[in-house]
Amino acid sequence: MKSAFGGLLVLVLLAASVPARAAASRPWLNSALSPDARAALVVKAMTRQEKLALVFDYFGSLVPDKSYRPPQGARMGSAGYVPGIPRLGIPPQWITDASLGVATQRESADAYRERTALPSGLATAATWNPLLARRGGAMIAAEARASGFNVLLGPGVNLVREPRGGRDFEYAGEDPLLAGTIAGAQIRGIQSQHVIAALKHFALNDQETGRSILSADIDRGQARQSDLLAFELAIEQGDPGTVMCAYNRLNGVYSCQDRWLLQGVLKGDWDFPGYVMSDWGAVHSAAAAALAGLDQESGWILDSQPYFGAPLRQAVAAGKMPPTRLEEMARRILRSMFAVGLVAHPIGDHPAPIDFASDEQVSEADEAQGIVLLKNAGAILPLPRTMKRLLVVGGHADRGVISGGGSSTVFPAGGNVVPGLGPKGFPGPVVYLPSSPLAALMGQSPMTEVRYLSGDDIDEAVRQAKWADHVVVFATQWAAESQDVSLTLPDDQDALISAVAAANAHNVVVLETGGPVLMPWVSKAAAVVEAWYPGSGGGPAIAQVLFGGVDPSGRLPVTFPESLAQLPNPGLPGESVPQGKPFDVRYREGAAAGYKWYEKQRLTPQFPFGYGLSYTRFRYSNLAARMDSGRLVVSFEVTNVGSREGAAVPQVYVGPRAGGWEAPRRLAGWSKVSLAAGGSAAISITVDPRLLATFDEAGQSWRIAPGTYAVWLGESSADTRLSAEVQLSAWSHSARWGTATELPSYYHVVSPAARRAAPAWTDRSGSRAAR
Ligand code: BGC
Repeated sequence: MKSAFGGLLVLVLLAASVPARAAASRPWLNSALSPDARAALVVKAMTRQEKLALVFDYFGSLVPDKSYRPPQGARMGSAGYVPGIPRLGIPPQWITDASLGVATQRESADAYRERTALPSGLATAATWNPLLARRGGAMIAAEARASGFNVLLGPGVNLVREPRGGRDFEYAGEDPLLAGTIAGAQIRGIQSQHVIAALKHFALNDQETGRSILSADIDRGQARQSDLLAFELAIEQGDPGTVMCAYNRLNGVYSCQDRWLLQGVLKGDWDFPGYVMSDWGAVHSAAAAALAGLDQESGWILDSQPYFGAPLRQAVAAGKMPPTRLEEMARRILRSMFAVGLVAHPIGDHPAPIDFASDEQVSEADEAQGIVLLKNAGAILPLPRTMKRLLVVGGHADRGVISGGGSSTVFPAGGNVVPGLGPKGFPGPVVYLPSSPLAALMGQSPMTEVRYLSGDDIDEAVRQAKWADHVVVFATQWAAESQDVSLTLPDDQDALISAVAAANAHNVVVLETGGPVLMPWVSKAAAVVEAWYPGSGGGPAIAQVLFGGVDPSGRLPVTFPESLAQLPNPGLPGESVPQGKPFDVRYREGAAAGYKWYEKQRLTPQFPFGYGLSYTRFRYSNLAARMDSGRLVVSFEVTNVGSREGAAVPQVYVGPRAGGWEAPRRLAGWSKVSLAAGGSAAISITVDPRLLATFDEAGQSWRIAPGTYAVWLGESSADTRLSAEVQLSAWSHSARWGTATELPSYYHVVSPAARRAAPAWTDRSGSRAAR
């Protein structure tokens, strides 16, 4: 029978509807049992061939160069497919890319599914709001399920160490606490829809140049305090069904066969109960990879051999890998399928309808809180609705907003509104989502005469800028998987901005970029707004912020450098190495990624981590730091002392007075609070002890050195308003942290009195405080 998804319909027996006889003969379908018990039961009933079939994923799309056709059950243009085992009631795994929305691997120019795109990962991280991250995750997973998928390849939590990284836009920034918390919340959202989330790319795949041949070299203890900590926190807080190992080598060893990384850290110290899947084309061996901890080979046809096919079968037969390890691999996969609900909540036979209008609102709410106001000289923003003449220039703002390329590309409902740009094949094309900022700006100010220019003719833009009361210039930069970017805006956009800014002092620059860019014109611009890749609701979100309907509450999740010379690696590692020749990327900054590097080196970036302006002002008071039940608790009050409502993002940083860390201080917690004018809130943050510790590689433990520690409260990593001191006593904890027992730091407590005056941010509206 053919299903409406275009593949063979596999009949799946539901636990709920299994007749009593079948339930007795298939006890693993009983959802009252634990996922571990169910997985153990079903593995016992499986043949070796069935176990082998579970650990082998087929690429889900046509590859004409290799004359490859996916098996019949695969979904059109998908990332992967693992056939089910109907006799045991185990459904197929239908796997899709969806870092930012349900993607399509294009099989031909016109074969793609149209879905809702979230703003980029960096935009979501810039909200500093895990509630929005969770809602976004739930939205894209609901679309994945409606499209016939039950495994979703995201989120990505690689730290932004290299601001030129072509995939930085997919990730959650440079700080492990912020990135891990945002990714953890996304995973919770995704898995709330009974779709497995794949946390990726484990680990240190922090640039695209040479990604499958480079070795990321870093001291292991320093990695635990930075990149690995982001994964550790995301796993504790999100509990993903699977973790995807990366393309690159780590200290010389391929991630997908790194026993220390997979078996030692992930499954050992962190007690990860799920399975490890490989990245697509990242497997280099059969038994060696399996014995190191890889449980599933992904996207067969992209590796040089079907390692987990015949080679693994032969390895087991020849005694090179014990059958118990194969059993464990199958058990881990099945455990996640039971735990996340793939068996109890099977995918229907037909695509489900998608409410695009409502999903777009989720995306818009995310973007509205992720937009960062970087500069606002003379309070030129918000734009006055009384203005008579507005000129909008560039960025295809008349048609839509740009998005990033590669496996995360989402083809939007309504189609790509600027077709024909970028590479014809992967990672192209450049996709513009049909959410026009120009139309949204006109909607905000119907009495204003608005003109639009593409910006191709700089002289004309200058002439028209003189006509206008205000000018808004949109600048875009496309970034994509498999290639890194320059920090200089392409296509002469710097010249356009400089010329327009010189012609009209009332100018606003809106950036739609994958990450940081250099701004040679920044002193001439009156206002600068970072809108990232704005997603399917991007136009209205930008217009709301520019006209002040929404207070800008995004804060930078990455440092914006002033020049390339400030980076730990001013030249992009590997850029001058002959194609195909392996090379090393030395992370000499160790755990001091991002702002930690700048502070350690006493460098002043263009815009620091955590920074972002608001249309109102906040005052901070009563900072106190105390130990409570062995945990550092930081409390303070924040008051909106401006004349309009707005959202504060108070940030707590800590550091030892005696030094000894990778950098002077680290982010230890934050809150996001929406306050009416005059409103205030009391906030209390419990700090995770690992953020006060260093990782002792020799002793395999986290250690806090006794002494005096400073606690800073501020509005960015470089702007502290208050400080306090606290004495910490010596503390240590083994690397084996186990399941989460700590309160994630964003769970702040608002005192009852303050709650009446100004409640904490809630999940209800996404873009407004509950009042
Ligand atoms: C990417 C992954 C992606 C996979 C499947 C790889 O090239 O690195 O992030 O999930 O392809 O499309």
